[in-house]
Amino acid sequence: MTTPQAPHSFPGTPAGPPPGCPAHGADPVGPFGAGGLRRLYGPEAERDAPGLFEKLRAEHGPVAPALLHDDVPIWVVLGHSENLHMLRTHSVYTRNSRRWRLVQDGTLGPDYPLTPLFAWQPICSFAEGAERERLRGAVNNAMKQIDYRGVRRAINRHSNRLVNEFGQDGRADLVSQFTDHLPMLVMLDVLGLPEEYNEQMVDAARDMLQGTETANASNAAIMGILERHVARRRAQPDDDFTSSLLEDEARLTDDEVAQHLRLVLIAAYEATSNLTANVLRMVLTDPRFRAQLNGGQMTVPEAVEQTLWDQPPFSNMLGYFAVQDAELGGQQIKKGDALLLNIAAANVDPVVRPDLEANMQGNRAHLAFGGGVYECPGDDLGRAIADTGVDALLMRLPDVELAVPETDLHWTNSLISSHLKELPVVFSPRQPLEISSSPGQTGASRTDWEISSPAPRPQAAGPIPPQAAPHVPGPPAAEGPVATVPAQRRGAWRRLVEWVRGG
Ligand code: HEM
Repeated sequence: MTTPQAPHSFPGTPAGPPPGCPAHGADPVGPFGAGGLRRLYGPEAERDAPGLFEKLRAEHGPVAPALLHDDVPIWVVLGHSENLHMLRTHSVYTRNSRRWRLVQDGTLGPDYPLTPLFAWQPICSFAEGAERERLRGAVNNAMKQIDYRGVRRAINRHSNRLVNEFGQDGRADLVSQFTDHLPMLVMLDVLGLPEEYNEQMVDAARDMLQGTETANASNAAIMGILERHVARRRAQPDDDFTSSLLEDEARLTDDEVAQHLRLVLIAAYEATSNLTANVLRMVLTDPRFRAQLNGGQMTVPEAVEQTLWDQPPFSNMLGYFAVQDAELGGQQIKKGDALLLNIAAANVDPVVRPDLEANMQGNRAHLAFGGGVYECPGDDLGRAIADTGVDALLMRLPDVELAVPETDLHWTNSLISSHLKELPVVFSPRQPLEISSSPGQTGASRTDWEISSPAPRPQAAGPIPPQAAPHVPGPPAAEGPVATVPAQRRGAWRRLVEWVRGG
């Protein structure tokens, strides 16, 4: 801290905006804020986050000072090797947000919009030492209990069910009608909570990650659902992730289990829906994939891996915190400073990717799943949802095509992720498949999840060259929510959402 007027400033940063800055101090959402540092929020960040991070790299090198919401200072780690160093040096950089100076001095309280992203909770991510090993060990053990064959069948079943909802229309928005729903359906199955799936659950999960005014309330709403589920499973265990956590030898409390369910549900949902949408976008637009459909090179798993490099589902993670003074990328990091793991920037660091067009197939050195002791334990499941889901959709809609020019696709950018707004497509209409339903379990024995009737093949079925497919630009089909919400629950959810939104 250098001056009383700028209590959140970094040591050694300039006192005002750079010369010629058009937003010189006056505009509260201009590109520059306190101390002349670039803001990671506001119109510029929302419009072009990658461009903003490249400006930071050009101005400061691999580690740059910048400002979060309300001009809170943070170090943005842009370099691939600097990010890896931070991830692997657990003795210096921790995810325990109680180490953040601005949390310790009370500057960042519960009302700060990004608080749900870093507020300390009794979960593995925030713990250190033996306590971290206890909690993360329980998560790892529960992940090992998941029956991945059963989950793949469930992904296939859910994918086909979603396609049934819009397949006869010949057009759809694959974001609002497919990728926003598939990971929530799968994750609620994995946790043993399939009955909670509905549109509002999807909205609440997304809302709490966007740093909106209602983020804290959405967080509380989801926690309420999870806490009730934990209490039910404590009384009556079942064959699901929740029961595995409850029964682990680490003897987690009910609160610890509920907090880890929230971590898993939200981390998995947001990341996997973004990944699936971006893979579909690539499949529909990238000539390398189109070549594959016609006997060329790129497969769906390869499109998944390429997407993890080019559009990592989490662009940033907030955050890491210095437990002692250190030097990183030429910057002097002070004990108590916060650092942003900038996955998207690391993945395009010119040091590791001098040619962004170069083929990355077979190279998994991206940081999409983080690294070090905090590395994501759900990478296999996330990949499975994306590649099985996309595969199932292509099987049902082999002539699916983008309904708008690629330049009309837009993303909503938040600090931690970019969410494709719409993916309008057209295809030959398909009759619904009969899918026998036994929701709630992912066990390998549940063969009744298999699709029980073959796909009726309309005349135009079968892979056809993209140029031969119908091209009908226009808005997505005006369909209602994919899920059918039982009447009594819809009422409860409406009340909940009104409360969440302050109504
Ligand atoms: C494509 C999908 C996914 C991506 C890209 C992804 C990415 C990430 C990233 C970047 C982190 C933070 C790592 C760090 O701080 O260094 C993380 C943590 C985590 N992820 Fe994932 N994730 C995905 C899917 C999943 C799934 C499906 C699950 C669970 C079923 C999951 C569970 C977790 C958990 C529990 C953590 C916290 C780990 C810890 O703090 O020790 N993730 N994930």
